[in-house]
Amino acid sequence: MPAEFRTIIEPFRIHSVEPLRITTPEERHAAIVAAGYNLFNLHADDVLIDLLTDSGTGAMSRDQWAAVQHGDESYAGSPSWYLFLDAVQDLFPFSHVIPTHQGRAAEKILFSAIGGPGKIVPNNTHFDNTRANVEYTRAEAVDLVIAEGRQPSIEHPFKGNMDLAALETLLAERSADVPVVFVTVTNNSGGGQPVSMENLRGVRALCDRHDVPLFLDACRFAENAWFVHTREPGYVDRSIPDIVREMASLADGMTMSAKKDPLANIGGWLAMHDDALAERCRNLLILTEGFPTYGGLAGRDLEAIAQGLKECVHPDYLRYRIRSTAYLGEALERAGVPVVKPTGGHAVYLDARALLPHIPPLRYPGQALAVALYETGGIRGCEIGTVMFGLHPDGTEQPAAMDLVRLAIPRRTYTQSHIDYAIEVVTSVAEGAAGLPGYRIVEAPPALRHFTARFEPI
Ligand code: F0G
Repeated sequence: MPAEFRTIIEPFRIHSVEPLRITTPEERHAAIVAAGYNLFNLHADDVLIDLLTDSGTGAMSRDQWAAVQHGDESYAGSPSWYLFLDAVQDLFPFSHVIPTHQGRAAEKILFSAIGGPGKIVPNNTHFDNTRANVEYTRAEAVDLVIAEGRQPSIEHPFKGNMDLAALETLLAERSADVPVVFVTVTNNSGGGQPVSMENLRGVRALCDRHDVPLFLDACRFAENAWFVHTREPGYVDRSIPDIVREMASLADGMTMSAKKDPLANIGGWLAMHDDALAERCRNLLILTEGFPTYGGLAGRDLEAIAQGLKECVHPDYLRYRIRSTAYLGEALERAGVPVVKPTGGHAVYLDARALLPHIPPLRYPGQALAVALYETGGIRGCEIGTVMFGLHPDGTEQPAAMDLVRLAIPRRTYTQSHIDYAIEVVTSVAEGAAGLPGYRIVEAPPALRHFTARFEPI
């Protein structure tokens, strides 16, 4: 945008619209009761502003829809595959790229190949399904984010950084049991917070010293690169693709969900340099996903991702993207609502534990806040706290490190007035926070309970 004006605008205009259905408070109350107070159980057309996730919910561009038409559905060796491969390797020059239907399929394949009982996988913070995929192989998942990353109110430019001292201790004691070290960029469960290049170099050095591979969980790599560009000394003159390539050069491989930064509605990949590991992974891919030149995807999806990868590293897009998330976070902070600071890349995280001190963690303050946002204004957020992380594989329950509600911003989907509306709703709920009830779980599966559990207010 013209540099002489300060308003940062959406760097696009709208060409096709989707209607939103306005509901009454009574309709929303009936809907949430029927859903067992679980926002995942709602019909999406009963939701007004859907901030459940930024995954697969972005708006594709004209050029991505054109690319869909260009998709070639040949079973093997489709031209769409080669376009996809070039686009991925342009940013992430790993020798092997293995396409999957989404990120968790890449994780399942990787951890099936290298996980297992007795193994331990460190990460700055595992996202829920990443942790579940590690634990499903009976390996242990440990989160080693820096201390600042666990304290919502502390400002730090790279709150997603790995605690290098803790990683060093772990590797010194157990490197033989560590099949891989993971770094999640940006750190989703910890507030969408970035990881600095300096920290990544530190992790790389430790991995080299202990001869352990380093993988990126790179779902939000472009947003991370924008934070490096704007916050880390020495990167202001470097282009975003260049910064991404530097991040990739520090790793041995990556797992990826194309539903996030690559601006696609479905897709993912697994990539690495190791030939032998790639062969094992490809064999698993063929069992469950598909032939190695399409994985779990149609040719049209591969094309949409290839085009999305070009768009998501554009500075005008990233400036708008990061600024519009900060706009929500800063407005809520001004209104006195406790939020994770500074605002992350893809979402604003409300600190439900701080806002609802009368609800103990095992009575799920995040769930209470998320339900209230829906009933009050039709906004759907996502509890990231004790419901999501409190239940351990041995069946015990403990409070999670934080009780947050994530308001994730789908890419290019909502306008500033939608966000202004959300600010008004959250502020109004925060004003009445003292009257909100806690919840108990009345029904839940043994793992990943947040998706299907049913609750009742206490
Ligand atoms: N890693 C991270 C950091 C994620 O945030 C996700 C998904 C995945 C891996 C898995 O990717 O969904 O394509 O299988 N996160 C979504 C979210 C679901 O809402 O944050 P996937």
